[in-house]
Amino acid sequence: MSRILILYFSVYGHTRRICETMRSELVPLGHAVDVVPLAEAPPLEGYDAVVIGASIRNGKHNPAVFEYVRRNLAALEAVPSAFFSVSLVARKPAKNTPETNPYMKAFVARTPWKPKLLGVFGGDLDYQRYRTSDRYIIRFIMTLTRGPTDPNTKAEYTDWAKVSEFARNVAALAAPRPA
Ligand SMILES: Cc1cc2nc3c(=O)[nH]c(=O)nc-3n(C[C@H](O)[C@H](O)[C@H](O)COP(=O)(O)O)c2cc1C
Repeated sequence: MSRILILYFSVYGHTRRICETMRSELVPLGHAVDVVPLAEAPPLEGYDAVVIGASIRNGKHNPAVFEYVRRNLAALEAVPSAFFSVSLVARKPAKNTPETNPYMKAFVARTPWKPKLLGVFGGDLDYQRYRTSDRYIIRFIMTLTRGPTDPNTKAEYTDWAKVSEFARNVAALAAPRPA
């Protein structure tokens, strides 16, 4: 059994849902999993693995993610860790791996943190849920990237099997504790 902490930065809740799916995968395997917003992160000591997940907004991960990593680099390096990124660009097969996703590549280039595991997941698109300004922005992005622009579109591009596999790989990173 391992203690695993999953921290997330999420604007409309999809990254949180991905984290909760990871927890649902890991708890039946006997692991203790805490899913916590990044802004409320507890001390990392005592965890056997730490995951950070963050979504993309207007081409970037939120500065709070970089700030958290900067402030907690030593603690993050003292424990097996993983990072995953959620975006609509990742719906494209040519951009859905850590090696091919532009946001993940930018993240890795910008931070000194070297997570042992990286994940890239497609996000969701639900025009009706967004505040008006966000609806315009995301429609513009969808026009540029040849995605759906119909304002009634509700689409989920997350490969949930890939999320579950990522969760199992996180557990494999963690040093097991005696039961
Ligand atoms: C205002 C806004 C801007 C976005 N900008 C981008 C973007 O630049 N590139 C991209 O691939 N996805 C973009 N997305 C899509 C989100 O990353 C995707 O919807 C994700 O599932 C959001 O996760 P969250 O609800 O956890 O924040 C944007 C979404 C919104 C609402």
